[in-house]
Amino acid sequence: MNNHIIVIKIGGSTLGQHDTTMQDLVELQKQGIPAVVIHGGGKTITEWLGKLSSDTKFVHGERVTDRTGLEVATAVLAGVVNKDLVANLNFIGGKAIGISGVDGCLLTAKVKNPDLGFVGNIEKVNIELLKTLMEAGYIPVISSVSYNSAVKPGNGPLLLNVNADVAAGEIAAALKAEKLVFLTDIAGVCDKDGRVLATLDVQAAEALIASGVVTSGMIPKIRSGIRASQVTGKARIIDGRRPHALLNEIQSSQGGTTIYK
Ligand SMILES: Nc1ncnc2c1ncn2[C@@H]1O[C@H](COP(=O)(O)OP(=O)(O)OP(=O)(O)O)[C@@H](O)[C@H]1O
Ligand SMILES: [Mg+2]
Repeated sequence: MNNHIIVIKIGGSTLGQHDTTMQDLVELQKQGIPAVVIHGGGKTITEWLGKLSSDTKFVHGERVTDRTGLEVATAVLAGVVNKDLVANLNFIGGKAIGISGVDGCLLTAKVKNPDLGFVGNIEKVNIELLKTLMEAGYIPVISSVSYNSAVKPGNGPLLLNVNADVAAGEIAAALKAEKLVFLTDIAGVCDKDGRVLATLDVQAAEALIASGVVTSGMIPKIRSGIRASQVTGKARIIDGRRPHALLNEIQSSQGGTTIYK
């Protein structure tokens, strides 16, 4: 197995417009480029919580996960969203397998901050499992619901909700991936005037967060990009709504924002 692994985070925000991303993933597979996919699905979780008349609370752009929220996040991310992606990939000739962070203890986590409820920080990534799947020719498609190692059975759920951007950053770092690519629903990280920033280093990124220019879902994306870039050299945040955004990124890396360590 070579180490030219590409880790791709597909934003839930771009799901539904993902037709060419699925084609691009199958094309990468045909070209022998190993890819690992992590997907979000925050909007679908919010929709399902709405159907169940349960509110969604956010603190600093991060979802607060109560027990119902954890069950819905597990059902939606590891079920509805994950299986839809895998079915789509298989349908167009890909060879994909859907797993969550719980399966094979892929992602082991601990409670991050009790104020956020059942939300975890990743402690360990089981890369052997991913390597085994890739060696067998599968694209692993991962939902970030994780295994809670720090709770005694009977003392609470053994599952934790982990932000998918955070999971993507940790997986890319653990695999020493060649590149981490975030496909999202905006052209890149924008400055205070709404212009896309071509590059960001750690200081510039933290300044944008501190000044409130970067908010909500872009915060964990940038921090995870910084985390991954410590190992991978760089991370990319690009517009996943553009046709063939992923293939274009692999071929020429134009547009979007590059995060350096
Ligand atoms: N400075 C900024 N530049 C660009 N986007 C920003 C900025 N600050 C906040 N954002 C928001 O971040 C959003 C992208 O993060 P979001 O979490 O919504 O999407 P995602 O991570 O791709 O999807 P999901 O969370 O479902 O996986 C953008 O649509 C934008 O509204
Ligand atoms: Mg997000």
